[in-house]
Amino acid sequence: MQRILRSRALAALTSPHGVDRYLELVNPMWAAAEVRARIVSIHREVDVPGHPPVATLTLQPTSTWRGHRAGQHVQLGVEIDGARRATRVFSISSPESGPGDRLTITLRANPRGVVSRFLVERARPGTMVHLSQAEGEFVLPDHVPERLLLLSGGSGITPVMSMLRTLHRRTHRGRITFLHYAQSPDHQIFAAELDEIRHSGHGTEVHLLHPELGDPNLSPAYLDRLVPGYRDVLTYACGPAPMIDAVRAVYDGSDVLRVEYFQPPRTSGTSAEGDVAFVRSGVEVANTGATLLEQAERAGLTPEFGCRMGICLSCTAVKRDGTVRNVLTGEESSLPDEEIRVCVNAPVGDCVVDL
Ligand SMILES: Cc1cc2nc3c(=O)[nH]c(=O)nc-3n(C[C@H](O)[C@H](O)[C@H](O)COP(=O)(O)OP(=O)(O)OC[C@H]3O[C@@H](n4cnc5c(N)ncnc54)[C@H](O)[C@@H]3O)c2cc1C
Ligand code: FES
Repeated sequence: MQRILRSRALAALTSPHGVDRYLELVNPMWAAAEVRARIVSIHREVDVPGHPPVATLTLQPTSTWRGHRAGQHVQLGVEIDGARRATRVFSISSPESGPGDRLTITLRANPRGVVSRFLVERARPGTMVHLSQAEGEFVLPDHVPERLLLLSGGSGITPVMSMLRTLHRRTHRGRITFLHYAQSPDHQIFAAELDEIRHSGHGTEVHLLHPELGDPNLSPAYLDRLVPGYRDVLTYACGPAPMIDAVRAVYDGSDVLRVEYFQPPRTSGTSAEGDVAFVRSGVEVANTGATLLEQAERAGLTPEFGCRMGICLSCTAVKRDGTVRNVLTGEESSLPDEEIRVCVNAPVGDCVVDL
């Protein structure tokens, strides 16, 4: 059936819309190539008054879903109130999956956000969403070493939770240290499950820390006490940018560290020079050193964006002139008429962009 659905003859017959547009009309869970998913359930993880709620969505993907490795993310698109599809990136919080298997994402409703608020507050079981295949290199190695350290903060817990769940399902016998920073015990996601894992006798140490209540911050001395010789232990870290900065400092260049960002690192504007011209809009601003997307938004423009992390390419624009620095890699580029992702590129001096 899938072979017929993917055949060239059928593609020609259904051009220009493609087979999937027609299949979707008959049954939203039928697909030949693209991936869609039905929301099966929505579970509120934490709901602290005055703070954005966090929920886990269980998704049943179409049979085109190829599965995922623990730690990977998906691009998820929704059409809200008939507007153009908005796409954001979410780590998968459930253990590794096979083709067609259910998966979960766990997300905080950003109070000013479009997609996360819709998914947590307005979506219902039965709502359909669009998915990419699983992506990302923040994954467990094929051969998991004897010792492993999983470090996270806030909603950065999701990819490392997928890793921990995967290793538990595989009954991995090594020593895993799971260290998570949350604002308070009330903000702690997956608390009951982590407690169960802690007591399962499988060699996993779980440390749930709340520095605002006096628990220790991350430091070389503290980490060395928990995981002696941690600079030689394969470590996965995901959390807010300041936490990742602290982790990087504590590991001091060690090559055992793997990190995942949900947001690009903050760019300091203190040494920024020159002007940024958004030529299509006829707007020129003094360069603040922030990413071109942030500078455009601050100037009142509304360029298209998706992940804000250089993943989805939806913010691609042509830089006509000037030098930009990729805030993730530090790489600079000065080519004229070059396509760049404005969400992760910051101007270095004067810059002209087709926005
Ligand atoms: C690899 C990766 C994995 C992720 N995994 C998770 C996860 O597991 N769980 C999770 O909760 N999140 C995760 N995220 C974050 C997620 O992708 C979204 O960024 C987050 O949910 C907010 O999306 P939103 O649509 O609600 O907000 P958006 O609508 O994207 O808004 C986000 C922020 O952008 C700014 N903004 C938006 N539009 C404008 C404008 N016009 N002018 C000025 N500022 C503006 C605002 O400050 C707003 O607060 C992940 C991100 C990445 C890159
Ligand atoms: S918004 Fe996704 S690459 Fe820029």
